Amino acid sequence: MVKNILCIGAGYVGGPTMAVIADQCHDINVTVVDINSSRIAAWNSDELPVFEPGLHDVVMRRRGKNLFYSTDIPAAIKRADLIFVSVNTPTKTFGEGAGRAADLQYLEKTARSIIEHADSDKIIVEKSTLPIRTAQALARVLSSNEKGIRFQILSNPEFLAEGTAIDDLEHPDRVLIGGLDTPEARAAMEELISVYAHWVPREKIITTSLWSSELSKLVANAFLAQRISSVNSISALCERTGANIDEVAYAVGRDSRIGPKFLKAGIGFGGSCFKKDILNLVYLCDYYGIPEVARYWEQVVAINDFQAARFVRTMLGAMFNTIADKKIAVFGFAFKSDTSDTREAPAITVCTRLLNEQAHIAIHDPKALENAKADLAGAPADRIAYCTDPYEAADGAHALVFLTDWKCFRELDFKRIYKSMRHPAFLFDGRNFLDHESLYALGYHVYPIGRPAMSHFEQKD
Ligand code: UDX
Ligand code: ADP
Repeated sequence: MVKNILCIGAGYVGGPTMAVIADQCHDINVTVVDINSSRIAAWNSDELPVFEPGLHDVVMRRRGKNLFYSTDIPAAIKRADLIFVSVNTPTKTFGEGAGRAADLQYLEKTARSIIEHADSDKIIVEKSTLPIRTAQALARVLSSNEKGIRFQILSNPEFLAEGTAIDDLEHPDRVLIGGLDTPEARAAMEELISVYAHWVPREKIITTSLWSSELSKLVANAFLAQRISSVNSISALCERTGANIDEVAYAVGRDSRIGPKFLKAGIGFGGSCFKKDILNLVYLCDYYGIPEVARYWEQVVAINDFQAARFVRTMLGAMFNTIADKKIAVFGFAFKSDTSDTREAPAITVCTRLLNEQAHIAIHDPKALENAKADLAGAPADRIAYCTDPYEAADGAHALVFLTDWKCFRELDFKRIYKSMRHPAFLFDGRNFLDHESLYALGYHVYPIGRPAMSHFEQKD
């Protein structure tokens, strides 16, 4: 029976996942460690390092009871029966596979510290998204220990989405556990199943081989991202033909074989997973000598880049082909609503392009301003303002651009904003989530995605 769980890596995945395990399994002690001591201090404070709806309540319920955040990695490793590895695996920025392959240095360092401090057999569970066959590398590093300790390696990819992490963890569509086909690995899988079985119905717990489990995570993310790129590619056609992408997506999604989810057109997907996982898949296909498959998946990322570039070109064209010295109010910087996370946010690309055109930008986001500052640290500071007040961001602006679909943006006083702006007042809805007709009626020139612009200018040409 698993009594002590350790999670190495207290990030967006490890933090919420362990909080929910502790909340659902009062008979198990859960410890989360990280090399980043300020992150651990934040987990032990009232200001958690990750904003996630519902997370605060779960952490407060269990912290100090069976949920602990610590920097004492050696002691935690010694105590644990089961160790989740949830360290970051960013895309490599150097050497072989740069820009595509996963950088596994954090994973390998973790494996080495497990070897150094462990003094009994342990189950090691890969939680981070990893390229297929990483488990084998992990197993080889771990089996190199000279203490005679046996490690069973399992793959248990996390499918939570940020912003809905707690609900996704409490009510998962499925839990996937991969392991080798040996009696020891099967026993380890049973141990992990018994943890999830505290709250997940058994029929939702899927077991596969190690390799299938690892690959499934990459493929699930690639399929989800592919749907977004598919709908975004058609949005460009809609804008030229007069069709409305929301109507098309609705009609298409009503086919039960296709389904309605992940068909929302916008400026493109962001987040730490989609791009990284697809590039990883591309790298693997090239590595294994199937370039045709690599090129196929590469297009999902290419359309995503095209969509952001196209959006900025639309802005530029609408604003008489120059935005130099014009103030543009940027609403939303997070890669999606209900998170402070800005990793791979389309806002980074859009803002960088606006700054390259010498615009002044005033950014407002309810949760992501601090991350935005870090992301734009290298950009010309004299042309960027960070505003906690949305009305200050919009004051005197030539255009509003919406890059995150925060619900609170729908409640803004657009009449007041219109009055405070320079005219003609442009509004670019990169998430297609505002009421375009009523904004047009207020006087805005409205540019949605995937449907023709709603402009008050005479259409002479
Ligand atoms: C994703 C997967 O959904 C999750 O299962 C996996 O574990 C991690 O990667 P996440 O990146 O947190 O989760 O968020 P997700 O909701 O998938 O959104 C990703 C991006 O796609 C966001 O930028 C979002 O705005 C965008 N998106 C999503 C669209 O543009 N249109 C859609 O229809 C859905
Ligand atoms: P994810 O979104 O996958 O959770 P994050 O970057 O949010 O990724 O979190 C990963 C965490 O793993 C970071 O807080 C990082 O400091 C931590 N980490 C990286 N390497 C190690 C290591 N060797 N030991 C402990 N923690 C580590």
